[in-house]
Amino acid sequence: MKGDPVVLGIESSCDDTAAAVLRGSRVLANVVASQAVHQAYGGVVPELASRAHQQNIVPVVHRALCEAKVSKKEVDAVAFTRGPGLIGALLVGASFAKSLSVALDIPLIAVNHVKAHILAHFIAAAGATVPSFPFLALTVSGGHTQIVLVRDYFDMEVLGETLDDAAGEAFDKIAKILGLPYPGGPHIDSSAEKGNPKAFAFTKPKVEGLNLSFSGLKTDILRFLQRAVKSDPNFVERRINDLAASAQHAITETLLEKLALAADRFGMRRIALAGGVSANRGLRSALRKRAEQNAWRVYVPELAYTTDNAAMIAMVGVLKLQNRSFSALDTTAAARLKI
Ligand code: KG4
Ligand code: ZN
Repeated sequence: MKGDPVVLGIESSCDDTAAAVLRGSRVLANVVASQAVHQAYGGVVPELASRAHQQNIVPVVHRALCEAKVSKKEVDAVAFTRGPGLIGALLVGASFAKSLSVALDIPLIAVNHVKAHILAHFIAAAGATVPSFPFLALTVSGGHTQIVLVRDYFDMEVLGETLDDAAGEAFDKIAKILGLPYPGGPHIDSSAEKGNPKAFAFTKPKVEGLNLSFSGLKTDILRFLQRAVKSDPNFVERRINDLAASAQHAITETLLEKLALAADRFGMRRIALAGGVSANRGLRSALRKRAEQNAWRVYVPELAYTTDNAAMIAMVGVLKLQNRSFSALDTTAAARLKI
């Protein structure tokens, strides 16, 4: 191997088929094929996700290699998402990666998707600084919401997590109640920009310690709207921006209160955001405001590396390749995988 290693990453844990090529921590290509098939159902249909991954995986990998101007022979290792995620979806990426590892006689590297969201901070990006250890990570996506103490690349401890819905799931379910398309998070974000976050005070969940809960908020909003539309059938249409802004405010404040508690308890001043919901403008600006108040140093990844992508998988591949931490060909995909 000459110079920095070239790693191909493959991500297929949910509804994005993604492939990326990294040379060291530099991204040469980052291709994501999002599956539109789920939109009509208002959520991800696991069976359809697996089928779409089957269709997409070969062209997506081909495109990533072409864009990177890298031939298969130059690839030093193949990294894939082992879990957590939808099992049928994970199997497509895992099987493809194993086949490629055998065909090219290169190491196979299994990657934990949630860790990868956090380690996306180590991807070389223009103007971005890399957090030094230890730091706190708030991972917020459609499938997970955790506060993680990151001591080193592979030494992470979950300090708190959601007891029910993930933050992204809360965004998506509330968006559905408001009649917004799936996935609803970005739609709530856009509407919220035009609304008043203090228009409605929704109840914040009360959970002990560093754990979180979001299912009560969704029920609270549903009950509130059922009452409101009785006297005004156009209430949701009329107040959509205020409703979105108030719901977003309730979610972001809940997240930030717990994050502040964790930062105090563990004496952390470096805070990193990870996962799809870190694209949320309300969360980003509220975090920056808190950072000023609390003298935090905040790290927010580039948008392309917040939602599901394979660059973060390849990044972990690069780090594991350095440790020669390879996976056997009988490694199984795992729907539930802890940090
Ligand atoms: O990390 P991700 O792409 O996939 C999972 O691993 O789950 O996160 C997807 C989640 C979805 O729930 C989506 O609605 C949410 O991230 N999301 C957002 C925004 N962009 C994506 N939520 C709020 N505001 C956004 N701008
Ligand atoms: Zn994710």
